[in-house]
Amino acid sequence: MARRILVTSALPNANGPIHLGHMLEHIQTDIWVRFQRMRGNQAIYVCADDAHGTATMIRAEAEGLTPEALIDEMRVAHLEDFRGFGISYDNYYSTHSEENRFFAEQIYQRLDKRGLIFKESVEQLFDPEKELFLADRFVVGNCPRCSAPDQYGDNCEKCGATYNATELVNPRSVYSGAQPVLKSSEHYFFDLPQYTDFLKKWTRTDAVQPEVSNKLAEWLEEGLRAWDISRDAPYFGFLIPGTTDKYFYVWMDAPIGYMASFKNYCSHNNEVVFEDFWAPDSTAEVHHFIGKDIVNFHALFWPAQLHAADYRTPTRIHTHGFITVDGTKMSKSRGTFIMAADYLKQLDPQYLRYYYAAKLNGTVDDIDINLEDFVQRVNSDLVGKVVNIASRTAGFIHKQFDGKLAADIHNMDLWETFTKKSAAIADLYEADDFGKAVREITALADLANQYIAGHEPWNMVKNPDQRELLHLVCTQAINLFRVLAIYLKPILPQMAEKTEAFLNVEPLTWAEAQAPLLGQPINKFKAMLQRMQSKDVDRLVEQSREEAPAQSSPAQDQESDGKFITIDDFAKVELRVAKIVKAELVEGADKLLQLTLDVGDHERRVFSGIREAYDPADLVGRLTVLVANLAPRKMRFGVSEGMVLAAGPGGSNIFLLSPDSGAEPGMLVS
Ligand code: 2FM
Ligand code: ZN
Repeated sequence: MARRILVTSALPNANGPIHLGHMLEHIQTDIWVRFQRMRGNQAIYVCADDAHGTATMIRAEAEGLTPEALIDEMRVAHLEDFRGFGISYDNYYSTHSEENRFFAEQIYQRLDKRGLIFKESVEQLFDPEKELFLADRFVVGNCPRCSAPDQYGDNCEKCGATYNATELVNPRSVYSGAQPVLKSSEHYFFDLPQYTDFLKKWTRTDAVQPEVSNKLAEWLEEGLRAWDISRDAPYFGFLIPGTTDKYFYVWMDAPIGYMASFKNYCSHNNEVVFEDFWAPDSTAEVHHFIGKDIVNFHALFWPAQLHAADYRTPTRIHTHGFITVDGTKMSKSRGTFIMAADYLKQLDPQYLRYYYAAKLNGTVDDIDINLEDFVQRVNSDLVGKVVNIASRTAGFIHKQFDGKLAADIHNMDLWETFTKKSAAIADLYEADDFGKAVREITALADLANQYIAGHEPWNMVKNPDQRELLHLVCTQAINLFRVLAIYLKPILPQMAEKTEAFLNVEPLTWAEAQAPLLGQPINKFKAMLQRMQSKDVDRLVEQSREEAPAQSSPAQDQESDGKFITIDDFAKVELRVAKIVKAELVEGADKLLQLTLDVGDHERRVFSGIREAYDPADLVGRLTVLVANLAPRKMRFGVSEGMVLAAGPGGSNIFLLSPDSGAEPGMLVS
């Protein structure tokens, strides 16, 4: 009987772009989902943007947008990137949705009813300028152990010490650079320790990989602590029922977003019933694909939350490792922190799908993208071995036999070697060991190439006596290629589509690998995949390096005493007189104006948060001061090439700086 399977990838944060790290997981999930669908199972794949949290709020503010406008824009951009890589979601939603609010409140109320929620006062660092509480990652200071500067509030990257944010020496807020103060407020906690026994059992089932299970056992042995599920206003999220200034912590409602996205899907697909998948006794399956950094949320908090609220727990959590490039962490300065959209401008998405598949093995080991190996594997294995089988033989069918395949299989043993691999390869897909599946498939491709080389169709065509054999050999080769295209279809759906068009057949299913395609007309072969060019990869790396914004926080830019900069520091800032030649409104940004500036020898485009203070028409022709050597900053609406100077607290109370009359565009300000 067909399985009913709900599948998810972790919900990407709405406050940043999609990069190749995200793509690993979404490609992995998509391969698994496509495999299930090819097998005739019902696999529903949902995802969403993870919209809530302080980071979204702050980014929206910086861009002069409401959080709602920002998350809407980001969702569209994310979806475009994912579609570009062929990710086949059935629904891509947002955690900032009414369905999610409903389930978050419902689950919270069910926990509360069971006596699993309690309140406690918590002392936390608070940014007195921005007037918000600071999460550990939003405070920097000197490590309390080794004194390394600019360390986050949870651990030191230099010496590895872990500590509380309150222990940092000379702490500063990442948002404002201000020195945080201690402030206490009441928080809401989920009494997780009550679920220790339940989790000890659950984490020993095959719902998690054995190495993950062992890690969880360590945490469970150390003892669980109650989970703080609330955050104080200002916060972008859902209010906790019965409060006016306490919000659900983003991680409380994020996994609930899986249910909400699915519920939204059900509302458009009446034949699929929410309860069939989420009732405690459901026989459907729920599979989450995640990275190893968020295992605690998915394999401790989430199953406990679900169980306590009378929902079923996940069938399996598929955990993968991190991405490295050429052996080290993805890095902006090296150009290896690559955005999905940039990749798509330079390279075919199938290359990456194939390469990731070849590297994934169902464990939590990190995955290294070696750029040379990437080019080499795609060209030698995929193009050189697999695609080559069809490209070397299809022409003969077309030219010599009117495009019609022969009626028989020539080498039955070889054919069966291919078809008999079906079950083993399927098991590998099921177990997320796509790398081994790819190795099995390329080993078959080697056999097919040996078969072709052994018969030399390019010589047979010269000998009329061998005409029939030529037909059989090429027909066999095309059939072997067809089986490989089926086995690779979860990884390379676009190539499969081209194969279907070439063979003149309906979308290929897994089972169809068992029966050959004989005696039928096929279409002219068209190249399915180009060889990959190293220079395109080089260009991508170069471009990613250029686009990386300068990495600094206001706090990091200060000297250690936090007060003075030197004259040399100041000399680094290039200020120039600029003339505003155009001032335009920016659609979707109610605080920004787009300025076109004449800087003497060229023009610049700058986005400036002065919309509320100025009518654009009044600005045209006016002189102002531009920070001319500020690293270009990529914004939602385009790149901002500098910054104009203004005084005042903001909003409508802001005053653009201008030199006296007589100054010329381009003049240095010193
Ligand atoms: O780590 C992250 O990027 C989170 N936004 C993942 C959330 S997954 C799920 F729980 F929503
Ligand atoms: Zn340290």
